[in-house]
Amino acid sequence: MRLGGDRKHRLQAPLRQCEGFWPDRNHRDSPQAWLEIYRVVRAETERRAAPLSPEDQVVQSMPDASPIKWHRAHTTWFFEQFVLASHVPSYRAYDPRFAFLFNSYYVAAGPRHARPKRGLVTRPDVAEVGQYRAHVDAAVEKLLTSIGARIAGDVLPVLEIGLHHEQQHQELMLTDILHAFSDNPTAPAYDPDWRWPPGAGRRDDWCELPEGIHTVGNQTHGFCFDNETPAHRALIGPVRLARNLVTNGEWLAFMRDGGYSRPELWLSDGWATLMGEAWLAPRNWREIDGNWYGFTLNGLSPINESLPVSHVSYYEADAFARWAGKHLPSESEWEVAARAGELEDAFGVVWQWTRSAYGPYPAYRPVAGALGEYNGKFMVNQMVLRGSSVATPPGHARVSYRNFFYPAARWQFTGLRLADFPT
Ligand SMILES: [Fe+2]
Repeated sequence: MRLGGDRKHRLQAPLRQCEGFWPDRNHRDSPQAWLEIYRVVRAETERRAAPLSPEDQVVQSMPDASPIKWHRAHTTWFFEQFVLASHVPSYRAYDPRFAFLFNSYYVAAGPRHARPKRGLVTRPDVAEVGQYRAHVDAAVEKLLTSIGARIAGDVLPVLEIGLHHEQQHQELMLTDILHAFSDNPTAPAYDPDWRWPPGAGRRDDWCELPEGIHTVGNQTHGFCFDNETPAHRALIGPVRLARNLVTNGEWLAFMRDGGYSRPELWLSDGWATLMGEAWLAPRNWREIDGNWYGFTLNGLSPINESLPVSHVSYYEADAFARWAGKHLPSESEWEVAARAGELEDAFGVVWQWTRSAYGPYPAYRPVAGALGEYNGKFMVNQMVLRGSSVATPPGHARVSYRNFFYPAARWQFTGLRLADFPT
């Protein structure tokens, strides 16, 4: 039995914040501390892949999703390219052809295979990708156990980015295999024991944010991606944010009121997408004998009306908010409320769409070199999501974190909370 069932592969409950996961302030210069966290992060990738067969790991169900095998190899290439090749003169690449296969979008790092064709790469096979990972792991471990102070200051920050990068792909591994399984008529379960995290409890009221100037963006000395900086001041409110996420039950009410058949509720691009893709419900919902079922990592089951709605696009979230007579919060409003501890289920359940377009913060500058391509070149035509999801790995969430997707995307664990004007 390869598809789940083995309890050792069960997903861990998500951490709501990243404190306690990464080397603390006193150990950030310690190669030994980074070696230990390197092993933890790399093992999490393998744990997520373990329930999946070689056939599962090669499939690419759409251009936006990547095969599990590719995620495992690409995250490995990242360390090979940006840590080993750059800082270990004696390092020998496992296979020089892998740079072409497993570079994602780094133009400065050289040519690469076409993204929509990743599912056609059956060689190297799953076993060899495992050997590739072991080869790079051995080289990184050797580097960290022998590194001199002279280059540690150059290597450790890049290694740290590589670990956060691998965590991003760990989330994609789950969302991409869920998308692939959702196209399988037998509705296979990734893990039959998978469960939504217990809710934080409902407080059916609003968090009031009076008008004021607040600092948003990353203000810590810990890790963040460049798109979270610089911290800057923003005028907030007056506004109020729902403490709770929108639920499946509320979404059913929207559907029963013609939510998917009333163009006046929708943005023009959203309505065109709905018509083109024949949307009738959130992605992964299926109507069987007049009842709605949802497909997720544990397979197909009746919709639980008390759980947060998931797998909705920005267009759907915006239409729902308009139907409810409300709107979506801006990312700054979300951040100020979350910093104050006023939002239930801000982390670890579903990413929350905001009405903020993904763009640079004032005075933003991407880092120099190929890693400057990490975030900056995507700052157009996408919308910001805040928080984190049930698929986000331990230690990855931050209150200043800016996730971003195109407004029609809905294969991630994406939901919403509402905003309103004060009464
Ligand atoms: Fe990547």
